[in-house]
Amino acid sequence: MSDHLLMLGVLATAVAGLWAWHHWHYRSFWLVVGYPLMAIRIRATWRKVALGCNLTKKRQRFWFTTVPGLVASTGVVRVKRKFQRIAVDTKPFMWLPLPTRHGWRVTLHTLEGQIPGDYADAAERLAHSWGVHAVRVSSDKPGRVRLAVTMRDPLVKVDELPPSTELLKVTVGRLETGGSWVVDFKTVPHWINAGATQSGKSNLANALIVGLAPQPVALVGFDLKGGVEFTPYAPRLSALATNRAECGGLLDDLVALMTDRMGLCRMAAARNIWQLPPDMRPIPIVVLIDELAELYLMADKSEKDEVAKTSTALLRVAQLGRAFGIYLFCCGQRIGSDLGPGVTALRAQCSGRICHRVNDPETATMTLGDLDPAALVSARAIAAETPGVAIVASQDGQWYRARSFYVSEQVAEHAAHAYADQAPKWADVMTAQPHEAPAA
Ligand SMILES: Nc1ncnc2c1ncn2[C@@H]1O[C@H](COP(=O)(O)OP(=O)(O)OP(=O)(O)O)[C@@H](O)[C@H]1O
Ligand SMILES: [Mg+2]
Repeated sequence: MSDHLLMLGVLATAVAGLWAWHHWHYRSFWLVVGYPLMAIRIRATWRKVALGCNLTKKRQRFWFTTVPGLVASTGVVRVKRKFQRIAVDTKPFMWLPLPTRHGWRVTLHTLEGQIPGDYADAAERLAHSWGVHAVRVSSDKPGRVRLAVTMRDPLVKVDELPPSTELLKVTVGRLETGGSWVVDFKTVPHWINAGATQSGKSNLANALIVGLAPQPVALVGFDLKGGVEFTPYAPRLSALATNRAECGGLLDDLVALMTDRMGLCRMAAARNIWQLPPDMRPIPIVVLIDELAELYLMADKSEKDEVAKTSTALLRVAQLGRAFGIYLFCCGQRIGSDLGPGVTALRAQCSGRICHRVNDPETATMTLGDLDPAALVSARAIAAETPGVAIVASQDGQWYRARSFYVSEQVAEHAAHAYADQAPKWADVMTAQPHEAPAA
């Protein structure tokens, strides 16, 4: 009796200890206990799971089978063995799963005729079979696919915005893989940031303002919500337009500035401002646009010319801005082709794509259209309870689920005031004369 009690006591203490370990230091618990158990389970059940997810192939095999029931002359039942051709289900070869920060990843060898898309189609079924949050598929080598598995949604809670250290580069959030979500204007110059109301677009713009405010960068705001979004950040903005007419004026300035910078680069035999010597290099400009659609909507025909002019100027800035240090970050609820050909052309120039929760499939398609269709499915599944979660197309050609760090208006406003002296005056940006190129 006392032995049983002792055993029960030991068992209860062990369970409580494991629970406390899991609760207080999940990462070490996962590496020491969770991961080995999971790896054994995944390998042991792979045949069944692959079969259920239609990832196996029928193959002919020659096999010895037994044919029972032959009665010999002696009356003894004899079992005969026969060499027969039978079909068996072959599963893709699976390497050992390796632990990652939020789950594990594993490499598979595809079977003949299979492509990574077959695994992407089965990703949701795999996630349900393994009881995990998500399975993402990638392939870095023909004949191999890599499954990255996240156990729980790592984006339910993300930490705080870290300080930016590199010019025009801001870490704005966390990727589902545990990596940093970086907006780097020097690598990806123009961005589309789409999402329904309250999906987290302005929060992301706030993160950029906080990240860029201390940097030697001129910030320009196009706030087509009548100025309610960006006016509090005016101290750090070099220029702010609050309606289409003002935006048109600023766009004309930007086009003129681009022409000046072109001349400067030509004189110095440079292809872009980054090839100029630092003392000749003009200040980079980041243009933040909130509610892009307002630039394209027209109530009647009288606005047609104004819209066409604005749209053309914006497109020119997008086409040529990259080389001359002018970068666009366009936020909008709806970025559909119904807004006109200008939007479709602008979208083609914006290689950075961010799609928050959207109301209509067209905006998701327009924002992420040429990516993997699974990205669209993932974008449409973003819940309203997690604002700031978005699908992001990054510079490596992959797409990721990510969440921005929470940056309140107060924090962004504080940064705008704290770094107000860093904001060059627009007139100074405009009149900064191209320096003379050094004599050859
Ligand atoms: N990354 C985030 N983490 C936590 N909360 C967030 C995050 N992003 C946004 N939120 C919350 O969601 C609310 C709405 O976000 P935000 O104002 O950025 O939406 P929006 O897309 O700009 O909406 P609208 O189109 O109406 O301007 C914010 O007040 C904030 O509380
Ligand atoms: Mg907003």
